Amino acid sequence: AVSRTFSIIKPDATRRNLTGAVTKMLEDAGLRVVASRRIQMSREQAEEFYGVHKERPFFGELVSFMISGPVVVQVLEGEDAVKRNRDIMGATNPADAQDGTIRKNYAESIEANTVHGSDSEDNARTEIAFFFTPEDIVG
Ligand code: CMP
Repeated sequence: AVSRTFSIIKPDATRRNLTGAVTKMLEDAGLRVVASRRIQMSREQAEEFYGVHKERPFFGELVSFMISGPVVVQVLEGEDAVKRNRDIMGATNPADAQDGTIRKNYAESIEANTVHGSDSEDNARTEIAFFFTPEDIVG
């Protein structure tokens, strides 16, 4: 069924002017950008967004990286959007990512890995609501 997921184009990508290249790969994978905003996340926002990771050893670095420059937050719509997005993103660690995926093509490291994507439909709903109101989303 047609569903939605949440995506972030991370600071390593905006810094290298890859917003369009990444978005083109998402679109070519059958996803439609139904909301998009370029923002500078605050430390508080990043800490809350990544709250599930706060006990991880990389949490501090992850938050610092995510606020190191602008990000583009997006809502993506398509058939089986969460899985479709995860497939085109590729593995978290670019060393493990399949050919033809966004992270294989563009990620610099496991941390500076170009994109975030929701890992479940439940988390997609939560993450979308963190950044967007229903009126922001035009399907
Ligand atoms: P993301 O999908 O945004 O969710 C959590 C992020 O933490 C992940 O992508 C990576 O950017 C980062 N991450 C995951 N594992 C590590 C790690 N071992 N070291 C540093 N960053 C990591």
